[in-house]
Amino acid sequence: MAKLLGGIATSHIPAIGVAMDQGLEETPYWKEFFEAYPPVRDWLYTQEPDIAIIFYNDHGLEFFHDRKPTFAIGAAEQYENADEGWGIAEIPPVTGETELSWHIVNHLIEHDFDITVCQEMKVDHGLTVPLTLMWPGHKYGHVKVIPVAINCERHPMPKPSRSYAFGKAIGDAVRSFAGDQKVVVMGTGGLSHQLDGQRAGFINKPFDLYCMEKIVDEPELLTRYSNYELVEEAGAQGVELNMWLAMRGALEGEGKLKELHRSYHLPISNTGAGLQLLATNSAR
Ligand code: DHB
Ligand code: FE
Repeated sequence: MAKLLGGIATSHIPAIGVAMDQGLEETPYWKEFFEAYPPVRDWLYTQEPDIAIIFYNDHGLEFFHDRKPTFAIGAAEQYENADEGWGIAEIPPVTGETELSWHIVNHLIEHDFDITVCQEMKVDHGLTVPLTLMWPGHKYGHVKVIPVAINCERHPMPKPSRSYAFGKAIGDAVRSFAGDQKVVVMGTGGLSHQLDGQRAGFINKPFDLYCMEKIVDEPELLTRYSNYELVEEAGAQGVELNMWLAMRGALEGEGKLKELHRSYHLPISNTGAGLQLLATNSAR
């Protein structure tokens, strides 16, 4: 059976990718933010996962508002970056893991999640920035990726409780996969931020810290929020917490988790930036 080693949640602010490209990690604005990442990278290095399942939101690149799947999963041989933010970054494509993707697809349909399956899928900063943060220089090694996109751009969005249940179904699918692969799950985005409108620049540090506290052992407290309440508490784009919840849901069947890392830095661009690592008993 494939094994879940743990989950990582990180913000995916596009400016992070630009800062890494330009070698700005040691500059005063960025230093403290980037200092949080080496322990998580080291953990990945020692655990040697074979597959990363990445819950992210597509910000209008592959899925614009005219056709927006609530939940979509990639089943492609590879995924290319096409994020247009600061001009398309020269990021090598990541390799897909099609066998486990299809296993998850079948499991999800059997368990009442009627997802969109993408045999071609361009990816944006929601996926590429966390990959670059975890494997700097795009040295992914043998890690293969399964992108899972959750609609966080166009209302109606899946409820936080539904995103959590969706993640849980994916965790169950991984555990029922007849391979011996080691899998990590990642949730990207958040924490509080609002990029436009009257509350542009809104960040809610106490709420972000509350989320990071509760997601460890009491995620059900977070799944009680509606997306409208999340917008109030965390800003319009704070609904990206849904990806953190899907990641946590995937670990639901793993028993007590070990929190190996938690950090929060504010602001990076317009966002309260969080990083968290939760390990299962399958991790070394
Ligand atoms: C920012 C944050 C995001 O989550 C995103 O998708 C784009 C921009 C920001 O804070 O700049
Ligand atoms: Fe985002």
